[in-house]
Amino acid sequence: MDILEAMEARRSVRTFDGKPLGVEATEAINASMACATSPFDGEWAMDLQRFDMRADLKPGTYGVIKGASTFMLLGFDDGNPMNAVAAGFAMEQVVIACTQMGLGTCWMGGTYKSSDFERVAHFPEKMDLHIVIPVGISTGEQRFLERFTRFVANSKNRKPVNKLFFVGQWDSPLTDSNQYYESLMMMRLAPSSTNSQPWRSIVKGDIVHFYSKGAETVHMVDVGIGMSHFDMTERYRDYVGRWFSDKSKAPEAPASLTYIASYQRQ
Ligand SMILES: Cc1cc2nc3c(=O)[nH]c(=O)nc-3n(C[C@H](O)[C@H](O)[C@H](O)COP(=O)(O)O)c2cc1C
Repeated sequence: MDILEAMEARRSVRTFDGKPLGVEATEAINASMACATSPFDGEWAMDLQRFDMRADLKPGTYGVIKGASTFMLLGFDDGNPMNAVAAGFAMEQVVIACTQMGLGTCWMGGTYKSSDFERVAHFPEKMDLHIVIPVGISTGEQRFLERFTRFVANSKNRKPVNKLFFVGQWDSPLTDSNQYYESLMMMRLAPSSTNSQPWRSIVKGDIVHFYSKGAETVHMVDVGIGMSHFDMTERYRDYVGRWFSDKSKAPEAPASLTYIASYQRQ
C-alpha cells in the first residue's frame, strides 16, 4: 500500500483482536516515531507503551476501545499552539505508517482516563499527555458503541470542498485545475476530533495558506494532522516545497479563522 492509498484507506479502529503487537511491528513503530518530523517551530514527545492486560493494568477508555494493549502516546507543552500543530503533523506520519503495516489506530483526545496513561508515559518535564492512540490488528467488527460514536461524529463523511478550500478570495472555491488540488483533497480525508475538519485553506498565486476554524489545542492538533496529509502528498509526488509561518504575508481571513502556516512549491 503506498502512502496515498494508506491515507485513503485509514479509518479509526476501536475494536482490536486483543493480541499484543509483535517485536517486528513494535520496532517499526519505534523507528517511525524516531523519524517523524515537522517543519514547524514546535516540540513534542512520543512514546509507545504496552500494557499487561492480565494484571490490573488495563487502561481506561470508557469502553470506547476494546482489545488494544499497545498505545502510542503524544505529549507537548500546550503553552505554544505551534507545539500542538507540530505534534499532530509528526504523529500522523506514524499513524499512516501503521496503516501501511496493516495496523489499525484511533486518535483519542478525550475518551481515555489520563491517569492510567500518565503513569507510564515517559515525557520530558512540561510536556503533558494530550493524545493516546491504540494500535493493533482490527477485528473488522464495529461494536454498538463504535457505530454510535461514528454516527454522532458523522465519521464517514467530509465537508464539501467549497466549504474548505478557496482560490484568490474566500468566496471562490478550489477547483480541480488548481496545482494544489490533489494535496488539499488528501488533507480533506484526514482524521480530526469529532470529525470537525477545522482546516481551511486559500491559494494565492503559488502559495497556499492554512487556517484553523477554532483555536483550541485539539483543533491545532487537527490542523497539524491535515497539513501532514498535504505534505505527504506533495512529497509522494516529488514536489519540493517550503513551509513558513508569516501572518503578514497571509490574506485577511474571516474572524473565525486563525492563521497557522503557508506552503510554497519551489
Ligand atoms: C485529535 C483527535 C482526537 C480524537 N479524539 C477522539 C476520542 O477522544 N474518542 C474517539 O472515539 N475518537 C476520537 N477521534 C477520532 C475521530 O472521531 C475520527 O477521526 C473522525 O470521526 C473521523 O473518522 P475516521 O478517523 O474514521 O476517518 C479523534 C481524532 C482526532 C484527530
